[in-house]
Amino acid sequence: MDLVTVKDKQFAISLSEERIRQRVAETAAQISQDLEGKNPVFLAVLNGSFVFAADLMRGISIPCEINFVRFSSYEGMNSTGSVKELLGLNQSLKGRTVVVIEDIIDSGLTMQELLVYLQKFEPTDLKVASLLVKPGNMQVKLDIDYTCFEIPNDFIVGYGLDYDGFGRNLPAIYTVVEG
Ligand code: IMP
Ligand code: MG
Repeated sequence: MDLVTVKDKQFAISLSEERIRQRVAETAAQISQDLEGKNPVFLAVLNGSFVFAADLMRGISIPCEINFVRFSSYEGMNSTGSVKELLGLNQSLKGRTVVVIEDIIDSGLTMQELLVYLQKFEPTDLKVASLLVKPGNMQVKLDIDYTCFEIPNDFIVGYGLDYDGFGRNLPAIYTVVEG
């Protein structure tokens, strides 16, 4: 078995570079077909989606733009709870077809909040492309337009996804080995 160690845990290969390459190319072709003539703006959500976004973009064959954004929570001075803010958005989304690029949708809570937030910028159309989805963990109902892979609830690393900051550089996707 192809095992790697990231920090204190062992991981086994789950999706090979070749499988990811093929599926990402297929997804890019589908998006290019569906959004022909729409000049979409891609919003890649940092950090996790940077590898997926780079590969997906190179498969897009229609005119498009990309922004890299970070959706982070901060504690307001007198706030009752955490408030989310979007960093890095440097163009108008008004009247545009927007495609959010995520690495993984787990509970779905982050994406749900992000979509509500993005609606304020008045895009004409708001779509979601996620490399991975864990349907077994989903706590909210989300309409995910493009999913490359549905995976079990186990923790994974690689291809941009991290375990405590490490493992993003792995070219394939690996699942934690419990032991
Ligand atoms: P959620 O959908 O709001 O639960 O959160 C999704 C976020 O949790 C992702 O953007 C990842 O940063 C992180 N995440 C969820 N599952 C994993 C995993 O298996 N490996 C690495 N990060 C994960
Ligand atoms: Mg993420």
